[in-house]
Amino acid sequence: MTAGRHVVLGVTGGVAAYKAAYLARRLIERGAAVRVVMTASALEFIGAQTFAAITGRAPLTDLFSDTDVSPHTTLGRWADTIVIAPATAATISKLASGQASDALIATVLASRARVVVAPAMHTEMWEHPATQRNLELLRSYGYEIVSPERGALAGGDEGVGRLAEPETIAEVVLSHLSTLDLAGLHVIVTAGGTREPIDPVRYIGNRSSGKMGNAIAQVAANRGARVLLVTAAEPPDDPSIEVVRVETAQQMAEEVWSRARHMDVAVMAAAVADFRPRDIDNSKIRRADGVPEIELVPTSDVLQGVHEMTPRPLLVGFAAETGSLDHVVEKARSKGVDLLVANDVTKEGSGFGSDTNEVRFVRGDGSVTDHELMSKHDVAEEIWDEVLRLRAES
Ligand SMILES: Cc1cc2nc3c(=O)[nH]c(=O)nc-3n(C[C@H](O)[C@H](O)[C@H](O)COP(=O)(O)O)c2cc1C
Repeated sequence: MTAGRHVVLGVTGGVAAYKAAYLARRLIERGAAVRVVMTASALEFIGAQTFAAITGRAPLTDLFSDTDVSPHTTLGRWADTIVIAPATAATISKLASGQASDALIATVLASRARVVVAPAMHTEMWEHPATQRNLELLRSYGYEIVSPERGALAGGDEGVGRLAEPETIAEVVLSHLSTLDLAGLHVIVTAGGTREPIDPVRYIGNRSSGKMGNAIAQVAANRGARVLLVTAAEPPDDPSIEVVRVETAQQMAEEVWSRARHMDVAVMAAAVADFRPRDIDNSKIRRADGVPEIELVPTSDVLQGVHEMTPRPLLVGFAAETGSLDHVVEKARSKGVDLLVANDVTKEGSGFGSDTNEVRFVRGDGSVTDHELMSKHDVAEEIWDEVLRLRAES
């Protein structure tokens, strides 16, 4: 659910157009849904395919060849914010006079969304009275201008006119978008697949990538929660998320059990090994010594440990199943979770490592909601929406 976080990114024809790709990525990482509109000149500087790959949707480049009969009004209504980065002198002029002759300006005019303009051009163009007067007009329309910076410009020149850093522009855009509805909550999230060593070289592992847990941690941080991520995978690159790295089920259990009691919510998304080798060889087991017999013993049940805490955080568990989900209502009951997120990892688009997931929510009272296939980011949004509903009910 990205309602309230819809961003239309307008890209125009300047050398800094490539930086718009970074901006698109950053906005998506921070929880926005992004759709791109490119001018004909922008296509001279960067391919539409780049934005299609980043946003998952082909940019709008022309008013008359889109499958939608009226793409500018559709996008204009969809947008919460329209950000134009980089904005050329030509586009600023067309915006000032309301000349809706391309898809981008038509979209801006057909929208009531907030508009953010990040100009980029040579110093002479920037300082020209025509540009400055046009910018004054844009300000008078209520548009926000993210001023260009001083620095190296295309062609070896130096001066004011360089596009503001994508991070700076993202901050301006996101400052209005984020609904910080998790502010004040302390949450603990687990992610990744644990590894149980056999000897110094080998381990028993699983196919979990950590993407689902990372998305849950990232969305919680975007929505204002204080997030502790205990992970056996590569964490997201976000300094606002506190990260504890672990490898084995035992390490994960110890970290979670020592910290979860003081949390408001625990989302246990990690794929924790159920068994580990009873003994770990100190040196590499050699082929020449024949096929070893490895005795397995159960690992610590991280989820169970949190469930037994008093007081305990609101508890969200995961069930990665292969095949039917018929028994997950019983599983939710036996695990004592407030919410069980179940999926069939053998199903197309729902497996480990994919960017999408198709999940079933089972609440503590046994009620069930099936969600359609969606990005792991959107699944994370749904989970936090559900957590807020459960907290409100309790
Ligand atoms: C190599 C090159 C670089 C350009 N860089 C810029 C720029 O940074 N800013 C700008 O305002 N115009 C720049 N222009 C001029 C614009 O591309 C031109 O005004 C174009 O009509 C803008 O169209 P648009 O605003 O519809 O994208 C550049 C042109 C060329 C050939």
